[in-house]
Amino acid sequence: MEPVSLSVDELMLRPWREDDAEAVCAASRDPLLRRWNGEERTTLDGARAWLTRIAGWSTEHCSWAVEDGGVLVGSMSLHEIDLAQAVGEVGYWMVPAARGRGIAVRCTRAVCRWGFAALELDRIQLFHAVENTASARVAAKAGFTQEGRLRRSYRYPDGVRHDELLWSRLSDD
Ligand SMILES: CC(C)(COP(=O)(O)OP(=O)(O)OC[C@H]1O[C@@H](n2cnc3c(N)ncnc32)[C@H](O)[C@@H]1OP(=O)(O)O)[C@@H](O)C(=O)NCCC(=O)NCCS
Repeated sequence: MEPVSLSVDELMLRPWREDDAEAVCAASRDPLLRRWNGEERTTLDGARAWLTRIAGWSTEHCSWAVEDGGVLVGSMSLHEIDLAQAVGEVGYWMVPAARGRGIAVRCTRAVCRWGFAALELDRIQLFHAVENTASARVAAKAGFTQEGRLRRSYRYPDGVRHDELLWSRLSDD
């Protein structure tokens, strides 16, 4: 699949580039990102390896760097895409300095809009650890419906299998 850019108000969601590695590395040293996303990207080599994995789009995975005035402010992805089932999963992180401006909510809405229209998805899922209250706010404000609590469903970087909340948005929600 050919990568596409999406514009959302003052923000640009664009394909990742190799030269994003330093900004990804700096963002990833934030304690919240370490907690939920792990240590890999906290080194330059790790950030480069991550970019190599995610920059290429496929029928299962699309990801964007979120820019504000040329500065990296976050990451958005649609992954676990299954076109036959018309389902996918959305994920995000924002750099600490850009948080609290509604960027995650606005970008999540935009990525869902694009996934429903361009990929003809019917259902987009969102998972987060129950302790991640910021992510729960993003899900609710981006129009997702909470469907349940998955017990000890995912081992996070702290080594603990956390309960997760499962949310979804349908194409006609
Ligand atoms: C989750 C995250 C992406 C939210 O990004 P953001 O751009 O600050 O989110 P928004 O500005 O769109 O805010 C959405 C809501 O979350 C709330 N929120 C933000 N940080 C919060 C926190 N630490 N605790 C509780 N609520 C929080 C905001 O107040 C807002 O709700 P409100 O409008 O009712 O006040 C960001 O905190 C982050 O990158 N966290 C670390 C990585 C992560 O958790 N990724 C998701 C893994 S599933």
